[in-house]
Amino acid sequence: MRELQTYSNIVVLTGAGISAESGLKTFRDNDGLWEGHRVEDVATPEAFLRSPATVHRFYNMRRQQLIKEAEPNAAHAALAKFEEQFQGQYLLVTQNVDDLHERAGSKKLIHMHGELRKAWCTCCDETFTWEKELTTETGCPSCDQSGYMRPNIVWFGEIPYQIDEIQTRLLECDLFVSIGTSGNVYPAAGFVQFARSTGADTLELNLEPSLGNQHFLVSVQGKATDLVPQYFKL
Ligand code: OAD
Repeated sequence: MRELQTYSNIVVLTGAGISAESGLKTFRDNDGLWEGHRVEDVATPEAFLRSPATVHRFYNMRRQQLIKEAEPNAAHAALAKFEEQFQGQYLLVTQNVDDLHERAGSKKLIHMHGELRKAWCTCCDETFTWEKELTTETGCPSCDQSGYMRPNIVWFGEIPYQIDEIQTRLLECDLFVSIGTSGNVYPAAGFVQFARSTGADTLELNLEPSLGNQHFLVSVQGKATDLVPQYFKL
């Protein structure tokens, strides 16, 4: 595998593993359970219809933890610095709903699964920066209707944000790097094969081999804060 600066068009995908050393739990820690609920059971439109208060509580807790406790780590910082100095085309796609990439300074960034610090009114379709709690009574700052606000998170069964743009960029890149993701959730889990279909080199940096590990040209196991600064330096 060549040095990263020799590539001309790089797409990076990140998952919960890159934020683990910032103190944010990955999805499949604790066997994927949260207070006895399967994570999938608080991350679907059906769960929100059935039990909106529980779903709000799950995301309110995560939003507060993100705001009060989490800071970007050396892996987020290394990606931001690399983007600033790299001469070629670059795109960072994250599955994470935290804002640690942008706090570290990343600019060309797509939050394909949405953002914890944003709320969406499904009545008037506006989105808002959101720091407080959301409840079933929260009114929309724009249309004033109550009961329509939800976290701006892409749930299971919903279509990720900017997927057409991501797919175009994957077909154009000459290097795809996947960091800190288990490869359980599609479409992100299929990006490696997409990038490879037009001849891109593919690199995985993860604590353990992911489910799609065999599709990567090179797969390296270790902590994101060790591996990302090591690979993403110019
Ligand atoms: P997972 O929790 O499935 O996987 C996290 C991966 O990070 C695992 O393979 C860990 O081995 C690895 N890991 C843990 N600590 C690490 C560290 N310090 N350095 C490097 N790697 C580490 O999280 P995701 O793959 O991101 O979707 O999950 C994908 C999606 O599933 C999420 O975006 C979310 C979830 O349900 C939605 O919310 C729609």
